[in-house]
Amino acid sequence: MTQKVIIDTDPGQDDAVAILLALASPELEVLGITAVAGNVPLPLTQKNARIVCELAGRTDIPVFAGCEAPLKRQLVTAEHVHGKTGLDGIDLPDPRMPLQQTNAVDFIVDTLRTQPSGSVTLCPLGPLTNIAAAFQRAPDVAGRVQRIVLMGGAYFEVGNITPAAEFNIFVDPEAAETVFGSGVGLVVMPLDVTHKALVTRPRIEAFRSLGTKVGHAVAAWTDFFERFDKEKYGSEGAPLHDPAVIAYLLEPELFAGRRINVEIETRSDLTRGMTVADWWGVTDRKANAVFMGDVDAETFFALLVQRISSL
Ligand code: RIB
Ligand code: CA
Repeated sequence: MTQKVIIDTDPGQDDAVAILLALASPELEVLGITAVAGNVPLPLTQKNARIVCELAGRTDIPVFAGCEAPLKRQLVTAEHVHGKTGLDGIDLPDPRMPLQQTNAVDFIVDTLRTQPSGSVTLCPLGPLTNIAAAFQRAPDVAGRVQRIVLMGGAYFEVGNITPAAEFNIFVDPEAAETVFGSGVGLVVMPLDVTHKALVTRPRIEAFRSLGTKVGHAVAAWTDFFERFDKEKYGSEGAPLHDPAVIAYLLEPELFAGRRINVEIETRSDLTRGMTVADWWGVTDRKANAVFMGDVDAETFFALLVQRISSL
């Protein structure tokens, strides 16, 4: 039974690898890719999403543009991590496949209303603006979502864009508050787990030695993407954040976490976007998310290389 998914994304090299993993996996039916402003502005994220689909030879996948700014705040981008284009590391041709005319938020609402209730998984890989906008515009659709598997947040690992907050949640905390308060089943891949999935040199070489266009692109992207984290954390390799979301759909047993309460800080400037995760169960706040803390990194990368070798 294939899983129907919508990938909401702000490509970004790690988003690109996540999209490739999804398109290389027959277990998943990608109903559409919705772009959101995040790592780079919307005109680039929607263009990059199409570049990745073309790289995978999947121009059949509809790509939509959604929100160009957070619900209530100024957009904060991350060119310092992803480069000016958002996909720095390799020059790929501009996309020829068209952008869909329908707005991404309308596509999410319409798809959730037309697909059988409980049959669609949402996979946000960037700020949660499009998802929250859909739930606010059409409150009936939240109950029709099977589950949301997202990359975002941090607890033990604390922040990567501020001392307190991870980028996706920091950019649009109000959107995150809407999603985490929606009652939809959540699986969260925070920095706590993605920082255990580091693209070390041998792993980059494993992509490059595929000898394919896609393998070469993934190696170039992860090579580029590494320098920010290496400088900051001194880590051997960049954390490959977003592919964890797709890998969870394919092999959930690779991950371990706890079902806990997670609230989003929206009021303080100092801790805006912090995911206040009750990992130790010290409150009586209702659990609303499975918050991941560990991953079998070796098997995760073996899965990635194996699937991407098929493109
Ligand atoms: O903090 C990491 C997240 O922010 C990843 O999704 C990355 O692509 C950026 O969107
Ligand atoms: Ca992302």
